[in-house]
Amino acid sequence: MPRGLYIHVPWCRRRCPYCDFYFEVGKSAPDFADALSRELAGRDAADRLPFDTVYLGGGTPSALDEAGVGAVFGAVRAGAEVRAGAEISLEANPEDITPGLVEAWARAGVTRVSLGVQSFDEATLRRLGRAHRGAAAEDAVRTLSARFAVSVDVITGVPGDAPARAPADVARAVDAGAGHISAYMLTVEPGTALARRVARGQVPDVDDDAQADAYEAVRAACAARGLAQYEVSSFARPGQESRHNRVYWSKGAYVGLGPAAHSLRYTDDGGAVRRQNVRSWATYRDAPDTHETEVLGPDEAFVEAVAFGLRDVGAGIDLEQLAARHRTGWLAPVRAVLDGLVGRHLTRDDGGRYRLSETGVLFADGVARAVLSVDVDH
Ligand SMILES: C[S@@+](CC[C@H](N)C(=O)[O-])C[C@H]1O[C@@H](n2cnc3c(N)ncnc32)[C@H](O)[C@@H]1O
Ligand code: SF4
Repeated sequence: MPRGLYIHVPWCRRRCPYCDFYFEVGKSAPDFADALSRELAGRDAADRLPFDTVYLGGGTPSALDEAGVGAVFGAVRAGAEVRAGAEISLEANPEDITPGLVEAWARAGVTRVSLGVQSFDEATLRRLGRAHRGAAAEDAVRTLSARFAVSVDVITGVPGDAPARAPADVARAVDAGAGHISAYMLTVEPGTALARRVARGQVPDVDDDAQADAYEAVRAACAARGLAQYEVSSFARPGQESRHNRVYWSKGAYVGLGPAAHSLRYTDDGGAVRRQNVRSWATYRDAPDTHETEVLGPDEAFVEAVAFGLRDVGAGIDLEQLAARHRTGWLAPVRAVLDGLVGRHLTRDDGGRYRLSETGVLFADGVARAVLSVDVDH
């Protein structure tokens, strides 16, 4: 089972109106790497076993300056073992790319950059409140592609978009050198500035039909450029799939460091322990071990593994193998749910390996909800 290390870098230069990830507006703190070292030193030995993937996410990891990048990777390599040949990814915003930072990332062993473009279209960028211009983002993709594997994030279904906007963004990203696209439908997250503007009628809400159309258009644009869909939101040239994200979908174990980071570890009884670090840099800096844990029994852990595993549209899930891994008695009721979804053409059963169907991919969240609410009493 592959193991992934996630590090949350909780700073952004500004607040995007749609975003509800944990971040603080401002410059990254100089003692961030030191706090990570202290957290890592305090984690169980089992949390410091060799990692196959490392992922710096945010917030904005490209907000770390060159010294900060060196310090963070220094802390990781001093406190944990990173396997030779590991995938090392970093999320970046286009406006941050400088030759000095690119060099610092290469020196630190970064292999893959996930660039938060969202769109190259100026009107969409304005609607999303982004800081960069389309042409600058295109330059950033070109520059980065010369050194790293590059993934581009695109947000689809932004109200006001022309139908051709999202597929045109995919084309521009791939033509500039991206070998991986993550396409996320705009979600109006409660508590964000976007949610307040929608509630006041200042901007339109997202439209389900327009989002479904944009998603189909993105799938077609990726296919036309040789990027195969391997997860609900992810498309890649062969060999450029994100190994780190696959750890999440295959429910491999992962360790999250930094404020608001999540971790998941399996227990010998087939269950799991989930950990969430405190969602505050100020608290984390003083006491980096501040966290909450949630213990999942084998049945719950099994159901979650099924719901997440289905997101991997290529591999799908081997239901009996997962049930054996979790030593659960819930195989039959979960199989009944999946067979019901087969009847509605949302999943397919290829000899005990279940996958989302072409239609099911469009309703992946609903499929996951159906699996998670399995009723074992009837
Ligand atoms: C947490 S962000 C970090 C990346 C980087 N700071 C940026 O802004 O590009 C990761 C990705 O989540 C996606 N995202 C964030 N909020 C979203 C929302 N409300 N709806 C859809 N996608 C969202 C964006 O595509 C973004 O690139
Ligand atoms: S979308 Fe990225 S840059 Fe914008 S607030 Fe969220 S994490 Fe920060």
